[in-house]
Amino acid sequence: MQKITIAVDGYSSCGKSTTAKKVAARLGYSYIDTGAMYRAVTLYFHQHLVTLTNDKEVAKALDNIQIEFRRNAHDGRNETYLNGLNVEDEIRKLYIANKVSEVSAIPAVRHAMVAQQRKMGKKKGVVMDGRDIGTVVFPDAELKIFMTADPIIRANRRQIELNERGELVDIEDIIENIKKRDLIDTTRAESPLRKAEDAIEIDTSYMTLDEQVESVCLLSDAAL
Ligand code: C5P
Repeated sequence: MQKITIAVDGYSSCGKSTTAKKVAARLGYSYIDTGAMYRAVTLYFHQHLVTLTNDKEVAKALDNIQIEFRRNAHDGRNETYLNGLNVEDEIRKLYIANKVSEVSAIPAVRHAMVAQQRKMGKKKGVVMDGRDIGTVVFPDAELKIFMTADPIIRANRRQIELNERGELVDIEDIIENIKKRDLIDTTRAESPLRKAEDAIEIDTSYMTLDEQVESVCLLSDAAL
């Protein structure tokens, strides 16, 4: 059966990863969360006190970073491993979210991650979510989705997600984090977040998860 590449880009907390994961499961595709990769790099930089402005330190750190996704045998969840250690919970915390956009704006970091992402998705049959998948990583993807949502709705969703993970965070702190990340992600020099010309925009503000999954699956059928 023919398989395609599905790129899902957009702002944080628009429902990208939850939708992408479910679409991948429905289509029998693999799912790659590129945000998790940038978060894992951020965690490593934090743990090893890497100075973000020091090119040599950054290059050395990148040489020592190995990121992979492994399926949790318990619940089938894809989890992020950094140098063999499960960091799935740690990378979702707010202190990482507060640093990740700065780290992912560093060109050397982007080059290293994009190269890995291209390798991971080269056989097609992949749903990859991020900020630059349709513009930089796979500009030839057969289907490109660009997700948006009202910022207050995004903040509420993020708060619920963090609460579920046991992190109680003030909504104001989340709104500030979302605004800061949007600004850095859209204005950075290297592959800024923007909608690819041929991407289809989906505003998820008032859509249920099922509706989001359904619409991407329908579009993927049409793209085959
Ligand atoms: O998707 P998530 O919110 O986990 O992404 C965390 C951060 O990683 C984003 O705010 C962005 O700074 C960065 N990122 C990126 N390019 C990607 C995916 C994520 O710059 N493809």
